[in-house]
Amino acid sequence: MGQKDDARALTSRRTLQPFLAKGFFMSSDTMERVMARFLITSALPYINGVKHLGNLAGSLLPADIHARFRRQTGHEVLFLCGTDEHGTPAEFAAHAEGLPVADYCDRQHALQADIYRRFGLSFDHFSRTSGPANHALTQEIFRRLDAAGWIEERVLRQAYSPHEGRFLPDRYVVGICPFCRNTDARGDQCESCTRLLDPADLIAPRSAISGTHDIEFRETRHLFLRQSAFQDRLRRWIVGQRDWPPLVRSIALKWLDEGLRDRCITRDLSWGVPVPRPGFEDKVFYVWFDAPIGYIAAAVEWATAAPDRDWRKWWQGGEQVRYVQFLAKDNVPFHTVSFPVTLLGCGLPLKLPDIIKGFNWLTFEGGKFSTSARRGIFTDAALRALPADTWRWWLAANAPEGADCDFTVERFVAGINKDLADTFGNLVNRCLSLVAQRFGGAVPCGGTPGPAEEDVGRRLAICFDHLRRHHEALEFRKAANEVRAIWRLGNAYLAAQAPWATLKDDPLRAAVAVRTGVNLIRAAALAAWPFIPATAATVLESVGEASAALSWPNDGETILTSIPGGRRISVPPLLFPKITAADVTGP
Ligand code: 2FM
Ligand code: ZN
Repeated sequence: MGQKDDARALTSRRTLQPFLAKGFFMSSDTMERVMARFLITSALPYINGVKHLGNLAGSLLPADIHARFRRQTGHEVLFLCGTDEHGTPAEFAAHAEGLPVADYCDRQHALQADIYRRFGLSFDHFSRTSGPANHALTQEIFRRLDAAGWIEERVLRQAYSPHEGRFLPDRYVVGICPFCRNTDARGDQCESCTRLLDPADLIAPRSAISGTHDIEFRETRHLFLRQSAFQDRLRRWIVGQRDWPPLVRSIALKWLDEGLRDRCITRDLSWGVPVPRPGFEDKVFYVWFDAPIGYIAAAVEWATAAPDRDWRKWWQGGEQVRYVQFLAKDNVPFHTVSFPVTLLGCGLPLKLPDIIKGFNWLTFEGGKFSTSARRGIFTDAALRALPADTWRWWLAANAPEGADCDFTVERFVAGINKDLADTFGNLVNRCLSLVAQRFGGAVPCGGTPGPAEEDVGRRLAICFDHLRRHHEALEFRKAANEVRAIWRLGNAYLAAQAPWATLKDDPLRAAVAVRTGVNLIRAAALAAWPFIPATAATVLESVGEASAALSWPNDGETILTSIPGGRRISVPPLLFPKITAADVTGP
């Protein structure tokens, strides 16, 4: 009996019943979702230096996993990111390196882009907020906001340091937060309580550059976005977002409850998007005004690269497009209030986010990751130490979703060895080695699938159903748990069938078990692909399924019969050698 019999056995009514009962086949809601296009953005990393693992875990990586999942389930996806290049961090970092700021940004952009490519982040475009598209769009959106009456000119008293001979940008004034008494609150935001601040709000302000308390507040003219006028509209919008994670909703509502304040959107700096208004020649837009506009500019740039691309199809795609944003919790106020006000106020039919997935902090060995203090593991060093998939897996399986999550070398080593070496690696290696050593490198033919195969097929389909739901709900830890469950299922099936032991006495049974095992490996690699794409691709290639990565095995009929007997396979090199702490931290 051949493949047809396998298929028949696995598609009996009994096998499919659990999926029919559980609504395994698509409801009209799901159908609608299948039709939707997905616009996905990750918060744009600041240009000033290589990012740490916390930055990867809190936006870039989950955004990539979601983009890959949506592509796998047949959706059209536009996944955008880029470097956030304006503002004081760029100016000061360039100054520290003795470079013109534009040159510094060129170098850092190339560096970051290369690191993300090596991490397997599958952006459709990785943009730069300092590019001409973002400059033009930011100025255009400003003009529209101004014409609509949402911009107001005000005279401000701004922090000026006679000692340094300059106005101090917000981030470079630090002091005591008037809300939570954090003694190191920055002039733009308190990292401890996440409230947005103005430097004049700070108690006992001092210069972050020199530490001097000799700070004057001098008069200077600035432009304000009249956010307060959007209070009711924003509240209605946010209250209606039932699908948003509680973390994001609660931060947004807390902020609204305090009453929206108008926001100063200009700065006394030279690096940034120039303000197109007479009298403002020496000023640029505030980095948080132009940075999120960079999400749209990224689509504009992406579209210019090919004639069949249209950025409006995404940003002005209405209900046909689901827009999902990924960001860390300190970014929530800008994405739930300031950017939506910009979008609503400019009068263009631009999409507001449908889902904002916010993340808590990844901490490092009990404390904060810190770029300035070089505390933690940075993405360039991580790639020198271990393959990208190793980091991707652990950071996704331990995503700081419900609460902050602590990275420790000990937990990392234990998790990688257990999940990747002992579970996934072991499944692939022992089954494919058996094919190579005992079946001459070809998937064995013959035998009839029986109750054991029916059982594992049913369990597998249920796992994929759960996995899909967790991905759709943006629950990354749960999704990783389900992937792990699929890997374990494969190992448990092979251990129970023990084809290496039955080979002599019952070769047809051994053939069925090995053939089913190879198909389980295919399914295990497809489940793994959004998380560990390079390894999953290697495994798929070794079983002759290189082109399958973009498919979703949710069809109970073929889940364990895709790979037929007779197919020649190869054994990939050891996927995940066991690691020790020395592999992570260096000798
Ligand atoms: O917090 C950050 O890293 C910011 N650079 C995120 C900007 S997101 C967007 F608005 F550009
Ligand atoms: Zn505070």
